[in-house]
Amino acid sequence: MKILGIETSCDETACAVVEDGTRILSDVIYSQVDLHAKTGGVVPEVAAREHVLKMIPVLEEAIRDHAPDAIAVTKGPGLVSSLIIGTTTASVFSMVQRLPIIPVNHIEAHIYGNWLGRENDLPEFPILILTVSGGHNELYLMRGHGDLEIVGETRDDAAGEAFDKVARLLELGYPGGPAIAKAAINGDLKKYDFPRSYLEKGSLDFSFSGLKTSVLDLVKKQDGLTPEFVNDCAASFQEAVCEVLSDKVLTAIAKYNPKEVHLAGGVSANLRLREMMEEKIGGRAIFRYPKELSYCTDNAAMVAACGYYSYSKEKHKASNVTPVANF
Ligand code: KG4
Ligand code: ZN
Repeated sequence: MKILGIETSCDETACAVVEDGTRILSDVIYSQVDLHAKTGGVVPEVAAREHVLKMIPVLEEAIRDHAPDAIAVTKGPGLVSSLIIGTTTASVFSMVQRLPIIPVNHIEAHIYGNWLGRENDLPEFPILILTVSGGHNELYLMRGHGDLEIVGETRDDAAGEAFDKVARLLELGYPGGPAIAKAAINGDLKKYDFPRSYLEKGSLDFSFSGLKTSVLDLVKKQDGLTPEFVNDCAASFQEAVCEVLSDKVLTAIAKYNPKEVHLAGGVSANLRLREMMEEKIGGRAIFRYPKELSYCTDNAAMVAACGYYSYSKEKHKASNVTPVANF
């Protein structure tokens, strides 16, 4: 079954056609990153206007050689003014083509980034998933498709948000995550001993506000930002975030004994995080992150994959899924 995925929750206009939840037939992403780099972050009004301009060309390219059987679209969470472009496009396309429409949760879609390209090596449940993106930072226990339990979440900033804010403090530009990771390569990760917040004993929740404040205090004490300071600060900050994230995963593994552990969301592109998790998890569980870097950050293939599994489940329950979406 071929599903058209549509993603416009933030600053990527994306459409993709995916077969049976894993095989990518087309994958088109128009990124607005260069536009938002000028303002150091996403301006919702500017993002929405750009989605309007790019939505149809991106859609046309994605479906040129692949007629879909159903449409999956991100319904949220995200910027409302951006989401509406995707959901309206999906609704119109669904009415014109008489195709079923499947509303998809953006975080759940990120989770399905780990199914893409894995038709011969499907993940096995139960799976512990660390979702780390710009707006979200949770630990999920997934016992089956559509059976997700949040077992930990951030009490303040998400990991990606912390990367973006610290990058701004270090004048590294937008988006912050890749910029910090790049600067960290030439930095000393032991130079600054930033605080690691573990909260109460055994807690699976996260908190990054103390770490962020600590970087801010250090930056304020500097007499200008030298490349050496920026690199050391980026490396030490990244190390602190990765250590807390991977230690929390270890605590959750001991508690839930999952078969697999997955990384999902934009921050799963971080090579240091992958390396540290791999090392700490050892043989306790199968460890996966999205097969391609482009499946980590926002894309429409993950939306289509998620839509496929939720549609298959719904169809199993009731034989006629109507082409009506309740956004
Ligand atoms: O999942 P995503 O594309 O959008 C949201 O749903 O938020 O995640 C974007 C986030 C940004 O905060 C960005 O700085 C972060 O992912 N990110 C990274 C890396 N690449 C993207 N963070 C750390 N290291 C990276 N290599
Ligand atoms: Zn995302």
